[in-house]
Amino acid sequence: MKERDFIFIVIKCALFVIPIEGNYSGINLPEGHLKYYFNSFPAEAEKCRNDVACPYKNHLNTKACWGYEANCKPENSFSIPHCPGEHKGWVATKSAQLDTFYAQGDFGYVRDQRREMMILCEPLFVEDSSLECTEHMRFCRGRNIMINFTDLINRSEPIRYKMDVLKEGDIGGYCKLNKKRLEEQADHISPLQSWGPEIRNFRSLPRKPIVDGDCDVVIEKPTFIMKIDATVNIYHHFCDFLNLYASLHVNLSHPTAFNRDNHIMIWESYSYRSMFQETFAAFTSNPLWDLKTFRGETVCFKNVVFPLLPRMIFGLYYNTPLIYGCQKSGLFEAFGDHVMHHLGITLHERKDAKVRVTLLSRDTQYRRILNENELVKALKKNPNYRVKKSTNNNSTRREFNFQH
Ligand SMILES: *[C@@H]1O[C@H](CO)[C@@H](O)[C@H](O)[C@H]1NC(C)=O
Ligand SMILES: *[C@@H]1O[C@H](CO)[C@@H](O)[C@H](O)[C@H]1NC(C)=O
Ligand SMILES: *[C@@H]1O[C@H](CO)[C@@H](O)[C@H](O)[C@H]1NC(C)=O
Repeated sequence: MKERDFIFIVIKCALFVIPIEGNYSGINLPEGHLKYYFNSFPAEAEKCRNDVACPYKNHLNTKACWGYEANCKPENSFSIPHCPGEHKGWVATKSAQLDTFYAQGDFGYVRDQRREMMILCEPLFVEDSSLECTEHMRFCRGRNIMINFTDLINRSEPIRYKMDVLKEGDIGGYCKLNKKRLEEQADHISPLQSWGPEIRNFRSLPRKPIVDGDCDVVIEKPTFIMKIDATVNIYHHFCDFLNLYASLHVNLSHPTAFNRDNHIMIWESYSYRSMFQETFAAFTSNPLWDLKTFRGETVCFKNVVFPLLPRMIFGLYYNTPLIYGCQKSGLFEAFGDHVMHHLGITLHERKDAKVRVTLLSRDTQYRRILNENELVKALKKNPNYRVKKSTNNNSTRREFNFQH
């Protein structure tokens, strides 16, 4: 018996203990996000209104929107951009500055991704496959999609930041493919800039892969496939997490949008580990998969999402040319709320007035602070600071093939 079969049996057994009635455990969100959730899904709000046992009654009657919905008024939206700094030299007016910031670094960014969504492979009947992407294949989603991992079984070199994981026809579905559009949109061909390297290989299949039994494995739960940046570095790895969170909003269309009973597959053959790996608990309650999980097999995904990537051109937030003078992005605030909520991190008010300053000392060949000790010494002279220097000596470095 394979390990996966075993897990499947365990999951099946566990299902019997979940209570059926008055079950709101699927809605597991920060308190402050509930009113936005219920406004996004009026039918869920109605269900709660009609159920005496619903614990969310207080969150049903306030107008609220994230900011990317078509009818979202600024007074109801999660955030309003603040731009106390000058706009001159960047854009002509204050309001252009505010709009630019909202589109570059706030929920306006999600709004624009949602507007860009286009069909690349069109279903003719509900049980057909479908594939949709935003411009340049920065974000894609599909239904009843087959991915053929057969050839990975004989691949000897490990896979990371590779663009040849799939060859023509290794990904496909039973739907009407717009080949011209597929080729046009596959124009950001680089490992972490778009899904072009993978999705350009998408082909129409002659028959329905799930119905006709062409897959060794069928994945029922929503699956997020992630191409990740350097996991050793908090800045880079949180770029992955932020984009995953933003992608939940880009795809927001079903009440289960924030559910964590899903799968995440890391598009690498290295086993994933990171100092920051606990953060995945904010997005999934299941073990992570990678490219070893299904090598040698053909897999069908009923619901698959290819999230926004960490190094997109003008993406968030690596090398983002963010407009000057603005602050308080609601998207980043919501991301912070979401992660803190799921990791159970609560606020511990500090007991004394001293500001704690921790200098993270990098023990690498380059990018070292040469006068670190002098810096710490100078900081310690300030009676308002409590200063600590933190070093990490057993750092396990990932190879990092990008120049930046
Ligand atoms: C998967 O790929 C292998 C090797 O390229 C091929 O022989 C097989 O027919 C493919 N399976 C499907 C269902 O297309
Ligand atoms: C993998 O290699 C083995 C041994 O050389 C061979 O028999 C098999 O057909 C190969 N499989 C694929 C999918 O290429
Ligand atoms: C993504 O959006 C599609 C289309 O609206 C939906 O069918 C699917 O359930 C969504 N996936 C997730 C994981 O929410």
